[in-house]
Amino acid sequence: METSTNDWNVTTWRSRSIAQSPTWPDVAHLERVESELSKKPPLVFAGEARRLEEQLGHAVHGKAFLLQAGDCAESFHEAAADAIRDKLKVILQMAVALTYASGVPVIKVGRIAGQFAKPRSENFEERDGVRLDAFRGHIVNGEAFDANERRPDPDRLLAAYHQSVATLNLLRAFTTGGFAALSRVHAWNQEFVANSLEGKRYSMIADEIERALSFMKACGIDLHDDSSLQGVDFYTSHEALILPYEQALTRRDSLTGFWYDCSAHMLWIGDRTRQLDGAHVEFLRGVANPLGLKVGPSMDADELRRLVDVLNPDNTAGRLTLISRMGRTLVSEKLPPLVEALRDEGRNVLWTCDPMHGNTYKASGGEKTRHFDDVLDETSQFFAVHQALGTWPGGLHIELTGDNVTECLGGGDDLVEDDLKLNYTSICDPRLNATQSLDMAFHVAEFLQAYSAANGARSL
Ligand code: PEP
Ligand code: CO
Repeated sequence: METSTNDWNVTTWRSRSIAQSPTWPDVAHLERVESELSKKPPLVFAGEARRLEEQLGHAVHGKAFLLQAGDCAESFHEAAADAIRDKLKVILQMAVALTYASGVPVIKVGRIAGQFAKPRSENFEERDGVRLDAFRGHIVNGEAFDANERRPDPDRLLAAYHQSVATLNLLRAFTTGGFAALSRVHAWNQEFVANSLEGKRYSMIADEIERALSFMKACGIDLHDDSSLQGVDFYTSHEALILPYEQALTRRDSLTGFWYDCSAHMLWIGDRTRQLDGAHVEFLRGVANPLGLKVGPSMDADELRRLVDVLNPDNTAGRLTLISRMGRTLVSEKLPPLVEALRDEGRNVLWTCDPMHGNTYKASGGEKTRHFDDVLDETSQFFAVHQALGTWPGGLHIELTGDNVTECLGGGDDLVEDDLKLNYTSICDPRLNATQSLDMAFHVAEFLQAYSAANGARSL
C-alpha cells in the first residue's frame, strides 16, 4: 500500500467517536497494560502481511479464492493443542475439497490467534433486576453473569496476546513442520468426520491426490524439493475491535517505512464499527495490512464508495476484502447495487461471502443457532449475484470448529433443535462443526465449478 497517510498516526483514532468500546473502570491500569504490550514482540511480520496482500490481489482478478474461517470468539478456556490442530485440519480439508474440484488456489486465513473481541447489540445485560456489562469476548471480560467476571479487565489484553502467541506458534509448527504436507492429506480426516458421507467423499479425493503424488514420484519428480507440497501458507485474522490492543501492537516496518498492525496478518472492521468518521476506520486506514470490511444490509452504495476511498485510496488489489453478510432474505436485493457500483468504477476489491451473521436466530430452547440450509442458501445467492454481474465471487467467510459440536442445525447429520443441548460449547455465535464445514466446502466447490463452466474463458 502506498498511501500517503501524513495526517495519520497510531493515535489519531483517539479523537474520533468510538463504537463498541468497553468502559474500562481503571484507565491508569489500561495505560500500564498498553505500555507493556507495546514492548512485546510482534506476532506477525510485515513481509508476511505483504505476501498475503499479493495473494489476495490475485483473488481480486479471479485467480484465487479466499477461505477465511475459524471461531466466532476464541476462548481463554480452550487453548489446548488438540483444538487448534483440529480447527486447522478442517480448514485444510475444506481447502483441498475446494481446490480439487475447482482448480482454483485457495488462500487460507484463520479467524484465529487473536479473535477474542465481540461487538454486542446491547451494552448491558439484565437478569432478575441485576444489570451488568454485556460479555464482549475474553479480551475484555468473562461470559459468566457475575459482577466480577463482567468487569472489563485490562490484564485480559495481555492474556489475549499470550494466548495468540502460543496459538500462532503451534500453527506455524503445524503448517511448516510436515503436518500440512500434501502427502498427509488422509490424516486430516478426523474419525468422526471420516464415517460421514462428507468424510467418505473427502477420502476419495485424498486417494486420488495420493495416487497423483505417487505418479509424480515414479516419474522422478522429487516431492521433497517442492515447498508447496511440504507445507501451506496459513494466515491469521481477527476483528480489530479493541483499539488500545491494536495500537500497542502496531509497528513501523523498517523496510518500507509503513505501519503494520502486527497482531495479525489481516484485520477486519465489523458491521457495527464501520462508521466513516469513527475510530475504527480511522485507525485501520493507516496500517498497511490487508483489511476486511463487513458489509451488512444497511450499507448503501454511496457509503460503501466513500469507505473504499478511505480504506483503499490507491485502489491496490488485495488491500481490501469486502465481506458481504446480508442474510439469505436480503442478499439478492442488497448486494447487487453495491457490487455493480464498485465494478463500474473499476474498484479493485475482493468480494467474499459471510453466510453466518445474517442468518442467526433463537431456537425454541433459547439457543442462538443457524440452519445449514440458510447458510448454503445465502452462499448460493451470493454466487448468483456475481454470476449475473460478471464479477468474481472471491471467497467464503465461515465460523467453524474442528469439534463435533451441535450448534448449527441441519447439514449431513441433519441436526435438529433437540440436538443443540448435546454439545453446544461456543461462548458466542453458533459454529459449523467439522462435518458441516466439509459439506459446505463441497457445495461451494460445485458453485465454483458451475461459475467457471458458465463463464468459460471470460477474464475478470
Ligand atoms: C463476527 O464476524 O463475528 C461479527 C460480529 O460479524 P459482523 O460484524 O458482521 O456482525
Ligand atoms: Co460471530
